[in-house]
Parts: sequence; structure tokens; C-alpha cells
Amino acid sequence: MLPLNLHHTAIAVRDLDGALAEVKRLYGLEPVSRERVEEQGVEEAMIPLGGSYLQLLMPLSAESPVGLFLAGRGEGIHHMALQVADIEAALAHLGAAGAELVDTTPRIGGGGHRIAFVHPRSLASTLVELVEVE
Ligand code: CO
Repeated sequence: MLPLNLHHTAIAVRDLDGALAEVKRLYGLEPVSRERVEEQGVEEAMIPLGGSYLQLLMPLSAESPVGLFLAGRGEGIHHMALQVADIEAALAHLGAAGAELVDTTPRIGGGGHRIAFVHPRSLASTLVELVEVE
């Protein structure tokens, strides 16, 4: 069940075009993909960085989870995503260990990966996403 890698670190932003331009201007990094994930209410861009990605997240509406995050906490790190090989096994392990699961069964996230979230109450107010990559 152990995570294999850091899959991505996600930053919530208000202006995705502006944030992408700053990432390119300051760090010379460019995205490999950009997509709207309607089910999560976000538009997201994935920027390769070493063995993982920097993910920029922009809410599609003020009422979406990321929109509410921005209203409450402002721009900043929103979650970290851990890559796992078997997401059902990871969820079973975490549930048995007492973690508070936002998703008890996987859903489909960006890039078509199966994902699930673990509540921030389970680890230092930090939202953790599991991403299954075989
Ligand atoms: Co993510």
C-alpha cells in the first residue's frame, strides 16, 4: 500500500493563465496538459517537475470546493497527491488505520486516473489525494 512517489503538489489559483505565465517567467516551466474536470469543478494544468508535477487548480465557480477554499484561505497549496499502485488496497489500509476518507471508493480524476481524497483532519490540516498509476 505504501505510496510510490509524490504524484503532484496542487496550488489553488484565481487566474490560471496568470499563474502559468508566472511559473514560466520565474522558473522556466511549462505545462504538458490543461483540462477542465467538471466533476471536481476545476480547470487544472499539470507542469512536470522532476519525478512529479506541479498542478495549478482554478475553480470553475465560487461554490466549488476549490472556490470555497480560495474564499476561506486564499491562494496557496491545496493538496498533495501520493501515487499508489492499488487504490482500493490503499483506501482499505487507511480506513483500517482510522484515517477519515473523503472518498471511500475511487473516482475518476484528471488524466483519467482513479483518485480518492483523505480528509485534512487526518494529517495536519493537509488534504491528501491518492492517485492510482499502474
Ligand atoms: Co490533485
